Amino acid sequence: MIRLATVFSGIGAIEFALKKSKLDYRVIFACDNGERELNLSEEEKNHVNQLKNNIEKNEFIKNKYSELKKHNFVKDSYFANYDIDDSRWYEDIRYIDGKEYNGEVDLFVGGSPCQSFSLIGKRKGLEDARGTLFYEYARLVKEIQPKVFIYENVAGMITHDKGKTWEVIKNIFESLGYDIHWQILNAADYGIPQNRRRLFVVGFKEPRLFFHFPEKIKLEKTMFDFLEPKVDSKLYLGKKGFEFVTNPKNNNRAKINTKIIRTQKANQQFNWNGDFVFERLQTVQDNSAIMKRAYVGEWNGELGVIRLLSNRECLRLMGFTDDFKIVVDSNNSYRQSGNSIVVNVLQEIISSIQLVETLDNE
Ligand SMILES: C[S@@+](CC[C@H](N)C(=O)[O-])C[C@H]1O[C@@H](n2cnc3c(N)ncnc32)[C@H](O)[C@@H]1O
Repeated sequence: MIRLATVFSGIGAIEFALKKSKLDYRVIFACDNGERELNLSEEEKNHVNQLKNNIEKNEFIKNKYSELKKHNFVKDSYFANYDIDDSRWYEDIRYIDGKEYNGEVDLFVGGSPCQSFSLIGKRKGLEDARGTLFYEYARLVKEIQPKVFIYENVAGMITHDKGKTWEVIKNIFESLGYDIHWQILNAADYGIPQNRRRLFVVGFKEPRLFFHFPEKIKLEKTMFDFLEPKVDSKLYLGKKGFEFVTNPKNNNRAKINTKIIRTQKANQQFNWNGDFVFERLQTVQDNSAIMKRAYVGEWNGELGVIRLLSNRECLRLMGFTDDFKIVVDSNNSYRQSGNSIVVNVLQEIISSIQLVETLDNE
């Protein structure tokens, strides 16, 4: 049984990967603030710090978030799909005391939001990152001492600020005594037709000299293999949308019928960004709901209609199979899948880590 803790948990890509790989796991805790911003006063921060334990801190922070009157839709998705009770859910990484979980976690996973930050490395230690959400992740690694951690972020983290940010981050992980391995992996190299390049850092408490990242797998599927036979007619573009996405000037924002899609992003469903599907007129002309809504235009010498990817298709293209329950509205679902990690990539990493073997050998 793998004891798992996640932060910036989102829709639980690692949870889903473990399940898909049929590995037994238990959620020790998960944490996500649902992209809401909570700013406590100094006085309130001191107050939380003085509270006795996570139960009290969690209650205080949950109350503060509920005062924002914005709902946590990420939590809705998480609770609908994974086995967890409320006491194991934290709203905000900044107020978790990891010491209470010391030695209780085998695998710790998270990818801090890619807020822009510049880190100045002076002391080559944790303090160099104070004030960032990366700091909170590293602090929890230090406090919890998981056997293995996986940290994920955008590939640009490596080159950010001429490589200085990454230098500091690497030093911090090493200063915590972890043996770290890192690589940029593209989802398209692991069975999913999406060009999503992400940095993965795997850290081992016990050095693992022979670890290597998973070998690439030949891509045998295209976007078309992930499409639903029928989608909601509201996904079809009207005249303005059709003209926008077929205009060659917008080629770097909108792509139509590509075999390998672009990186899904949280906000791509607005302003006609992202990937689109062209359907020939013959295939839709008998569907009155589509014909009522969609603009019929010409693309590549053929008449047809253009539509967005559906929520389900976006999830599939992130490696979530159809047993993943969608319980939030369409915009939130697009955001959440665009923010997630490709499940297949995590499955391959997990198998390279040989986590179960590691635990069994003890
Ligand atoms: C890039 S997404 C990670 C998604 C996740 N990897 C998944 O599998 O879906 C970053 C997440 O961090 C969350 N977040 C941002 N600030 C946070 C904070 N202070 N505490 C906890 N979660 C936070 C956001 O709500 C968002 O869901």
